[in-house]
Amino acid sequence: MEITLTPGALPRRVPVPLYEAIRIGTAENKNDYFDIFLGLDKAMVEKLRARSLDTADTDLQENTSDFKRFGEGSYDDWYSKSRVPFALMHKNTGALAALVWLGPKPLGRKSIKRLSEEELKNEKTVESGGWHTIVFRSYLPFRGQGLMKEFVRATTDVYTHYCPDAKLWAGINRKNLASIALAEKLGHTIDESHSDPTWVAMTRV
Ligand SMILES: CC(C)(COP(=O)(O)OP(=O)(O)OC[C@H]1O[C@@H](n2cnc3c(N)ncnc32)[C@H](O)[C@@H]1OP(=O)(O)O)[C@@H](O)C(=O)NCCC(=O)NCCS
Repeated sequence: MEITLTPGALPRRVPVPLYEAIRIGTAENKNDYFDIFLGLDKAMVEKLRARSLDTADTDLQENTSDFKRFGEGSYDDWYSKSRVPFALMHKNTGALAALVWLGPKPLGRKSIKRLSEEELKNEKTVESGGWHTIVFRSYLPFRGQGLMKEFVRATTDVYTHYCPDAKLWAGINRKNLASIALAEKLGHTIDESHSDPTWVAMTRV
C-alpha cells in the first residue's frame, strides 16, 4: 500500500478534541483508495462500535477486548485515557477498513478483558514509565490485503512526532500469528520477561 501524508494537516497536539477527525493523508492499494484520519468523528465511532459487536468476526472477538471496550463500553471514557486513534476509511464505501491507536500504558499491562476489578479501577491513573502501547485491527473484507504494515508504520511515525521519546510495545495473544508477524515486521520483538504462556508483550525500543 502507498501512503501519502499531508504534514500541513497535522494538529499542533494530540489527542485532538473528542469526536474531531482530521484527514491527514490518503492511501492506495491495488487500485483501491482510502483516507487516513487522526481522531474519529461520531459516524466513525458508530462504525467502530458495529465492527466491535460483530460476533461473526471470530478473529476479532478471540484476540481483542473490543466487544467490551467499544461495543458495550463508552468510547468517551476510553478516549479520556489519552488514546490517539487513526482510522483508515475506504473511499468507495465509507467503510472503516482499519484502526490503529497508540497511548501511554505501562509495559506488560493486560487489556481490559484480562484485568481484575481492582486493576480496572486504577486504569486511568496508572503511570506508564515512558511506555506507549500500539494496537491494530483490520476489518473484513480488508484483512489480509496488505494494508497494515504501511498503515501502522505511517501512523506510528505520526505519533512519535508528538512523543519522540515513546518506547512502544504491543500486547498480543501468543496464538495470534498474524498479529505477531505484523509486529515483527514493524521491528518489535517478544519480551518474555513481561509475557506469559498465553500472551506476549512485544517491544520496539
Ligand atoms: C493482526 C491484523 C491487524 C493483521 O492485519 P492484516 O490485514 O492481516 O495485515 P496485512 O495483510 O497488511 O499483513 C501484514 C503482514 O503480516 C503477515 N501476515 C498476515 N497474516 C499472517 C499470518 N496468519 N501468519 C503469518 N504472517 C501473516 C503478512 O504476510 C504481511 O507481511 P508482508 O506485508 O511482509 O507480506 C489482522 O489480522 C486483525 O485485525 N486481526 C483481528 C484482530 C487482531 O487480532 N488484532 C490484533 C490484536 S493484538
